[in-house]
This record gives sequence, C-alpha cells and structure tokens, in this order.
Amino acid sequence: MAISDEDIQKVREASDLVAIMGETGPVKQRGRDFWLCCPFHNEKTPSCKIDPALQLWHCFGCGEGGDVFAFIMKSQDLSFPEAVRYLAERAHIDIADDQAKRGPGMGQGAKARLRAVCAEAAEFFHMQLMRSKSPQAGAARAYLSQRGLGGDIPKTWMLGFAPGQGALVRHLASKGFQSNEMIQANVAVVGSDGRVRDRFFNRVMFPIKDEQGQCIAFGGRVIGKGEPKYLNSQETPLFHKGRMLYALDKAKAAMASTGVAVVSEGYTDVIAMHEAGIRNAVATLGTALTRTHIRVLSRHARNRIVYLFDGDAAGQRAADRALQFIDSSMTPEAGAARIDLFAVTLPDNLDPAEFIDAHGGQELQALIDQAKPLLEYGIDRRLGNWDLSRAEGRSGAVADALSVLAPIKDSLLAKDYARQIASRARADEKDVLERLAALKPPRVFDAEAPAADDRADHGVPAPPVRRRLPQSEMNRRRFERQLLALCAARTDLALVHADALASVQWHDPACAAVSASMLDTLADDPAASPAAIVGAASMAEPRAAGFLTRGVPESAVPEDLAAFLVEELSIGDAEEAVAAMRAQMSAPATMSPEDYELLFETVAAMQRELTARKRGHAESAASSR
Ligand code: UTP
Ligand code: MN
Repeated sequence: MAISDEDIQKVREASDLVAIMGETGPVKQRGRDFWLCCPFHNEKTPSCKIDPALQLWHCFGCGEGGDVFAFIMKSQDLSFPEAVRYLAERAHIDIADDQAKRGPGMGQGAKARLRAVCAEAAEFFHMQLMRSKSPQAGAARAYLSQRGLGGDIPKTWMLGFAPGQGALVRHLASKGFQSNEMIQANVAVVGSDGRVRDRFFNRVMFPIKDEQGQCIAFGGRVIGKGEPKYLNSQETPLFHKGRMLYALDKAKAAMASTGVAVVSEGYTDVIAMHEAGIRNAVATLGTALTRTHIRVLSRHARNRIVYLFDGDAAGQRAADRALQFIDSSMTPEAGAARIDLFAVTLPDNLDPAEFIDAHGGQELQALIDQAKPLLEYGIDRRLGNWDLSRAEGRSGAVADALSVLAPIKDSLLAKDYARQIASRARADEKDVLERLAALKPPRVFDAEAPAADDRADHGVPAPPVRRRLPQSEMNRRRFERQLLALCAARTDLALVHADALASVQWHDPACAAVSASMLDTLADDPAASPAAIVGAASMAEPRAAGFLTRGVPESAVPEDLAAFLVEELSIGDAEEAVAAMRAQMSAPATMSPEDYELLFETVAAMQRELTARKRGHAESAASSR
C-alpha cells in the first residue's frame, strides 16, 4: 500500500544522515561537511561526503549519492517503501497504511488557493469581455469578431478582456484573496514603487486550463499590433510550460477516439481547428515541444502525434528543433513503447488558422492525414536543402540526411531509410550504408563521469574509458548538471529560475528528466527540501542522485552562479537556433525571396541580440572572479 508523502516526510525528518551513515564507520567533520570511507567500495581515505544541512550524501570515488532513503535502499538492498518502513521503525514512527487517513498536505492547500485565484480571474476577465461598457472592452469584442473569434467562441473558450488599472487586484481582494496569492498565481506583479498591480493590461485573455479543465494560467494577446504580441503567465507552482498543452481538456476525448493528437503552436490555431471540427488539436504555450509533452500526449493518443509546423521562418525553426526527438522510441524495436511522431509543414507561409480561413477545415484534415513520419519528414527537409542535380549537392545531401538517422543508426528502420537516401541522392547504396554504420550516435550517455581531479586524491581506479564528447559538449553538460545540482541544494533558486529550467533545451537526457521532476516536486510543494527533490529526481532518473549530490563550488555566490549558468545555457540554446537558421539560409534556392529575406532579418536580429548578450555574459563572468 502506498505510503503518504506526509509520512515519508516525517520519517525523513526523524532520520539523521550523519548518525545513520556513521554506523558504517568513523565520520570526520571538515568545515560544515562530514566525510567517511564510502560504504560501497573499498578505500582507505574518505571520499564520501555528507552534507548535514541538505541531508544528502555523495561519494566522489564511485559517484553514488542521494538522500537517506537512497542510502538505506543501497546498503540494505531494499525497495523504496521498504527503506521508508525500515527507517520508520528505527525512529518509532507509525506509518499510516490507510490511504483514507491522508489529508491534503500544506502544499496542496496552497495550490488550491492559487487555482481559486486563477478561476476567479478567468471569470472576471470573461465578464469584462462580455459585459463591460468601456470602449476598450468594446474594442476587444470588435477585434475578436473581426478575426472570426466572435459568436459563441468567447463563451466556449471562456475568452476574456483584461482592463488593467488594478481592476483585477481590487476584484480579487474583494473576494478575500491576499496579494501574495495573486502574485504567486502570476496575475499580479509588484511595481517598482512596491504596489501590487494587474499583470495583464488591455489584452484579450485566453485562459489556460489543465487536463481537468481548471484554469491555471493565462495567455494575453495585445489587441491589434503591439509587443509583446502574447504575454503569458510565467511558470508558477501550478503552471509548467514544458508539460502543459493548451486545450488538452477539450481535446482529450477526441484524441482517445481517433488515436491521434494534433499539435500546433498558437492559441488561435487551436480554437480555429476545434471550431472547424478538428477537435483533437492542442498547442504548446510559447515553447518548443518537449519530451514531457510527447509523453503526456501519447497517454491520450495511442496511434500518432502529428506536429503542424507553421509555414513561416519560426515554424521552420521549430521543425528543425523537432528532429531532436528522433530516437530509438520510434523504431519497431521499441515494441509497445513505440511512439509515432508525424510532421507536416503548412504551405504558403500559413499557420493553421490562416489555412482554415483560406481552404477550410477538411483540407487541413487532409493534410494532417497525409503527415509524414518525423524521420521521413526530417530526411526530406535535409535533402531539400541541397541541389541534387549536382555532384557536390548530392554528396552533401547524403551526409546531411544521414545525420538525421544517427540516433537510431543500428535499427532496421535506419537501414531502410539509408537505402532510400541512397536512391534519391543517386549514391551507391553500399557506400551509404557504410557511412550510416560509421555515424556516431549523438547522445553518448554519462558525459560527466567524476572528473579526474576528484579521483586523484582518493586513489580510486578510473572507470573504463568512455567515448568522449567534444569539449564544448562536455562543458555544456557540466553546466547543465551544475545548474541542477545548485537548484537541488537551493530550492529558492530553482523557483526563481523555474521559467528557465522549463525552457532549457537540455543536451543531457538525464538533465531533462531531472529538471522536469524538480519542477514537478516544487509544484506539489514549493517548500520541498533538497533531500525530497533529490529523492524524487532519482526515481525519475536513476543517474540523478550521483550528480545532484556533488555539491557546488564553495567559492561561488550561489545567486550569481545560478544566474550565470542560466544565461550560459540560454545563450547556447539561442546559438543553436541561429545555427539552424543559418543552415537553412545556405540553400536559398529552396525558398521564396520573401522567405529568404524574412529569415535573413530574423537571423541578423537574433545574432545582434546574441552578440550583446554574450558580451554581457563574459563581463559578468569576469567580474565575479
Ligand atoms: P504566433 O506569432 O504564430 O501567433 O505565435 P498566432 O498563434 O498566429 O497568433 P495570432 O493568430 O497572431 O493571434 C504562436 C504562439 O507563440 C506564443 C503564443 O503561445 C502563440 O500562440 N507567442 C507568440 C508568445 O508566447 N509570445 C509572443 O509574443 C508571440
Ligand atoms: Mn501563428
């Protein structure tokens, strides 16, 4: 029977790691940490550290680590529930096996309040749109109907209007909500003068609902032209962009009955699709599709997930990014766990809403039905970048297209596709298959085995040599792990940077899993302890404990280090996006002059911004030394 979170928490608090690990041998204090010889391998000098404040341990020799439960599981060879019971007995704590006794925890109570704030705000915005006599609300109504979002649509989708001017804050206060609750739900912000203000001002509001149909966040569109076009809720304890999908509550039934999920990028696209009868459509929320999104969708849609890319430059960039989802889960060898991702780019620069306006919903449905498997789509895109009528073009095309297959190079599917590439690029099949076999898979696991200097003073033999990643990739992954380790130790910094954690394009799949788990844990309980975070992350990703418990350099100011790492990763992501667009620009023949110009301008603007950011970043790195 499941043990309640409250009981786990009680047992954790009653079990002191230093005392418990101290039973395996002598423990020495150095600074604020304790050190002992690692109980899991033979050593003469202690390389296992216990951080008493965080209640976490880490062995710099073998790389193991975790919380008190992880230690008991490993040393006593117990499962997690067994370890909890073992420690409960030790501490004379009665574990309530009865699920009915479980009350909602503190975290749940606070979350319920935030949900209530969002529900009340959605209701308020909606009434403003439907009833308010102000000219601004009238303009919002006119804007929506002129865009084809009139009639029943505002009611069906609970669209709203945000008047700003403190109207929402006053309304919520009159309903008994505290300022800090409004701020936490991100419908209000504190101004520079310390006053609490409405976050959304003179915008059309799209309530974002969770799978159960409860409002948890908002997207606000400027009326007409203006920047930013959409202002979305930031990450809150309720709202995780990397997991949430717009309209999943409405779409899940159609996903179950058709077995298909359709993913686009915009709120208005989803509304237009549902209204046109494509009811299995959802949208990401201003972020790229993540693996978590895919996991969520594959629970509802058994057969396939179809990604609709806008025909514009941004859509094409998203398409290039989506190719990162190609992995072994797509091959027949994955069996029941296989995920079928499909993709289609809309023609003529259109997004789904515009396509429906121009051609109708049936035409769009036909395109969705004809979507190609992501692998085929990716190969087509790559081949399309090259001039196949020339020898150099053909040879570049083979290399470019083959690289799509790298993550699954050993599968039968990859060999099939390689043969197709050979025939389309008029290359020798045997040669292409050989080049496929020689490809390096891009995701080499464990880029960060304990560094040599960690081992040197402890006399632990080096682990077997692994295939090395390029230095820049090693650095990137080290930064990813450092940021997560820091966020695990300082959960306040994890909350500050929750937005960033949710949007980083993690290179290390383990980091992606850990970041998702960390955000989950903090969403359930913003006051979760480091040990609870590491415990949960290790369940999601067995390799997590090893790097989350290594600690952070003592010389660093944690706030500065976190900000530095976040910026470092974000700049890296932006550089990759620019590189992908540049790659596209290397084949101007495949684009219309307008597309090319748009792409050119976008790249130039992004590059300028990037250069400025890199300068600032380098300066902040220098000044913090
Ligand atoms: P688009 O720019 O394609 O907007 O952004 P759209 O969906 O076509 O919107 P309309 O039809 O012009 O109103 C797609 C999505 O990207 C996010 C939003 O989630 C939007 O729906 N986005 C876009 C932002 O978060 N902020 C922005 O400033 C722009
Ligand atoms: Mn769009």
